Amino acid sequence: LNTEKTVDERLLNICELLETHIEYYNWVGFYFRNGTKEELHLGPYVGAPTDHTVIPFGKGICGQVAVSNKNFIVPDVAAQDNYIACSITVKAEIVIPIFVNGENIGQIDIDSNTPDPFTQADERFLEFVCSQVATLLS
Ligand code: SME
Repeated sequence: LNTEKTVDERLLNICELLETHIEYYNWVGFYFRNGTKEELHLGPYVGAPTDHTVIPFGKGICGQVAVSNKNFIVPDVAAQDNYIACSITVKAEIVIPIFVNGENIGQIDIDSNTPDPFTQADERFLEFVCSQVATLLS
């Protein structure tokens, strides 16, 4: 009997931990690049179901991070032009890229129902989470 968790189970566990223990993390999910195609595909997530399971590079906050390779903190989603709304309750978003061997292979995406909740501490913490996810994937 193989009781080892799959990568997707581990990623889902990470989403669950983050959503449960940090009160202003209300939707937590992973998007991953699909091979050589310039689009992101939704991976494991916790929170309201979303229609945006495929996001083209450049589109929305997630698509912009796929191109920029940089963290993106959005204190107020209503002030963003290039934004894909998943739920009307969302006020803020943070997206941190995941690098494997220096390559941006995906990201963690977190939505908050609290306005402007994300700080540099969230950035540093989530960069650490992403570095751990990278070791899981490589
Ligand atoms: N808001 C994101 C889309 C993904 S949902 O937040 C789950 C964006 O603008 O890219």
